Amino acid sequence: MKKVSYLFVLSCIVIVAYACKKETDTDRALYDETKQSGYVFYQSGALLPGLGNSPHGEFKLLFNTIAASVLDSTGELPVGSTFPDGSVIIKEVYNGNNIDLLAVMKKAPANSDAGEGWLWAEYEPDGKVIISTSKKGNSCIGCHSGNTNRDLTNTFDLH
Ligand code: HEC
Repeated sequence: MKKVSYLFVLSCIVIVAYACKKETDTDRALYDETKQSGYVFYQSGALLPGLGNSPHGEFKLLFNTIAASVLDSTGELPVGSTFPDGSVIIKEVYNGNNIDLLAVMKKAPANSDAGEGWLWAEYEPDGKVIISTSKKGNSCIGCHSGNTNRDLTNTFDLH
């Protein structure tokens, strides 16, 4: 009897551990993409306060070269424009002098994990997934679709 319950507990642990491993291939690929070179800072890397209904606090913003290619001379996405496929935007959220969290959007409408045309994810700085792309932005899009004429991005209207 005792042996059976040990086995039961053991299999529960295995199942829970497996369920907790929530990182998908898309999560890994997107995190790897945040480590590539060629990103440019919004407003020269200024530390910006979270405004409006921002859930994150102070942050810096980065665009990959594809995203940066459509920004205007003030560094903003013109009203009514959209980001091209392959655009990556990284929000580095700070706690004091340290990066606490990465919130990432990637324009990838063909990806089966896309929500409203974007992949949405949050990571710890070392890459541990906090919110997986497999959630398809279900906790993100509500806030980000308030202003649809800037392709679901909020920063340009607030900062
Ligand atoms: C409660 C509202 C809210 C929720 C929920 C939210 N965001 Fe945001 N997000 C904002 C606001 C407001 C900004 C603009 C910058 C600022 O002031 O923080 C922003 C900015 C961003 C940016 C920079 C690009 C932009 O839109 O300006 C990224 C990337 C981002 N969020 C990712 C995410 C992801 C991924 C999720 C879901 C896991 C998420 N956000 C959920 C409100 C929200």
